[in-house]
Amino acid sequence: MRKWFSFPITEGKASRQAHCDIPEDTFERECGKEGFFGPATHMYHQHAPTGWTEWEGDLRPHAFDTNKVEDVGDNPLTAPLLLSNANVKVSIWRCDTAMEYLVRNGDGDECLFIHEGSGSLFCDYGHLRFRDGDYLILPRSTNWRIEPDSPVTMLMIEATHGSYMTADRGIVGDHAVFDPAVLEYAKIDDAFIAQQQEEQSWQVYLKSRNAMNRITYPFNPLDAVGWKGNLTVFRLNWRDIRPLMSHRYHLPPSAHTTFVANGFVICTFVPRPIESDPGALKVPFYHNNDDYDEVIFYHKGEFFSRDNIHPGMVTVHPCGFPHGPHPKAFAAGAKAAKKETDEVAVMIDTRMPLDLGDAAKQTELDDYVLSWRTPPRG
Ligand SMILES: [Fe+2]
Repeated sequence: MRKWFSFPITEGKASRQAHCDIPEDTFERECGKEGFFGPATHMYHQHAPTGWTEWEGDLRPHAFDTNKVEDVGDNPLTAPLLLSNANVKVSIWRCDTAMEYLVRNGDGDECLFIHEGSGSLFCDYGHLRFRDGDYLILPRSTNWRIEPDSPVTMLMIEATHGSYMTADRGIVGDHAVFDPAVLEYAKIDDAFIAQQQEEQSWQVYLKSRNAMNRITYPFNPLDAVGWKGNLTVFRLNWRDIRPLMSHRYHLPPSAHTTFVANGFVICTFVPRPIESDPGALKVPFYHNNDDYDEVIFYHKGEFFSRDNIHPGMVTVHPCGFPHGPHPKAFAAGAKAAKKETDEVAVMIDTRMPLDLGDAAKQTELDDYVLSWRTPPRG
């Protein structure tokens, strides 16, 4: 058995409630272990903890623009890699015509976040319509293909050797945040039956152990006439997420957890009212999330804690140093200028460090590390 050392101490000036009633002229920084679930200390600084003026070395905040990734190839399983470690692979793919082959990821469950476009997904389990803002969850080794109605851009998140599960809803129960009844699954409907008539030779691209196999069938493998069970392909749209919030306390990102996999979680930030209590912090608190790398993909809206970020961009804040709101956003938060957020973003928090793929490096904004610069306080 193991147990954290835990003995609450207060040194000097501090608030007795995290993220609220912060001592005047101070900046609060949370130093925390194990995401937002381990021991943590709230430290009150005289300067913004992101106020560095120079940074030498590779462990720095990154931002890159997936809109600038030009060649995405024609197979989702070889889409340009943005970020990866042993637990997760994140890539970006675009598709504007119907796939004429099937793909199958033997390396782990797949989460497709539809950034733009709509269409039909055909898979072993049947037919499922999708639109922008959907998460499509595909169990490992599912055969699938898409037929777009309009050009599709998707963020692909592979749970390498792992599975996507739901988060424990704790004291709010299973129907909060989203009711499991809002999930839609692939069905054996008329469209699925109609595509079975294409009795020609079909190829399946199977990725396994990160290598590609091409398997040819003299018939269409999507030929199921029925199935039963509790494993399937399903979709969840962010519009069906009803976020937890408190008008008196800035909840940590973990309150917005949507999927849990081995070594990482996916959280969804959706529009919500901003805290109204005069003493409550109105923007994300500065923090070292000391055991996790933190990735945010910006999908839609105005990103309330960041300056100069637009849809399709990604930020990566490796663990080891603090991050937090940009100066303009911090000042707006202090004035309580905004009453609600309209941003939609996908966050991926990984327990092990991430490596940047070529597509991320090639579209990186070099000066992002200095984007928190502020004039010194007088
Ligand atoms: Fe964070």
